[in-house]
Amino acid sequence: MKKTIVLMASVAMIATACKNKEEVYEVDVPSREQADAPFELGSPSDVKAEKGSFQMLGLNYEYNGLEPHMDALTVATHYGKHHLGYCNKLNETVAGTDLENLSIEEVLAKLDVNNATLRNNAGGYYNHNLFWEILGAKKGGNPTGKIAEKINAQFGSFDNFKAEFKKAGTGVFGSGWVWLVVKDDQSLAITTTANQDNPLMSNATIKGTPIIGLDVWEHAYYLKHKNKRADYIDAFFDLLDWGKINEKLQ
Ligand SMILES: [Fe+2]
Repeated sequence: MKKTIVLMASVAMIATACKNKEEVYEVDVPSREQADAPFELGSPSDVKAEKGSFQMLGLNYEYNGLEPHMDALTVATHYGKHHLGYCNKLNETVAGTDLENLSIEEVLAKLDVNNATLRNNAGGYYNHNLFWEILGAKKGGNPTGKIAEKINAQFGSFDNFKAEFKKAGTGVFGSGWVWLVVKDDQSLAITTTANQDNPLMSNATIKGTPIIGLDVWEHAYYLKHKNKRADYIDAFFDLLDWGKINEKLQ
């Protein structure tokens, strides 16, 4: 890294901070070549929880594996920064408590929704695990197997289901999630939650086991789609791994 001496002689700054003395700072400035070099994204397998019982589960694809529907920088940032942040804070929050050795589903079912730190980070950890699990390279298309039958029976057609899911997603005000859940009576329901809440929490309007989760926080789509959340939802459907969703349905 090229070292450059920068002479800071700003009258205002020095007047307040340096009592009329000049101050010299040595700072690292990237060369032109470094600035132009591609950002090193690394690999999902490098992303590890700092410590604790909840671990990062990895991805079934590399960061660029979901292109062109989801760009590598978004996936790398979303998984390696946002998701990892929830995982680390969840571990910190449950350390030394009875929750430490429970499954994440048990933590979600038991947690006190007035405990905002636990609620946000346990939700963030679980929600993102599901989000990444049900996406895949060269997936999308029409549903298959049991989930196809259930969607057709309940929504009339896959197109109807997509339209309803998309409407729910574009209708979330601010940050949140859209879900397809299986309720206790085995019927399907589309529902939404705010922030990092989910349908396993005691405060959920519609409770059920999520089999599809769509993150509609801006961090999930803003780099590629800017404010066009509807385009991001279309791209999400091009990535859905119906085989995995059928496994979740079992
Ligand atoms: Fe997210």
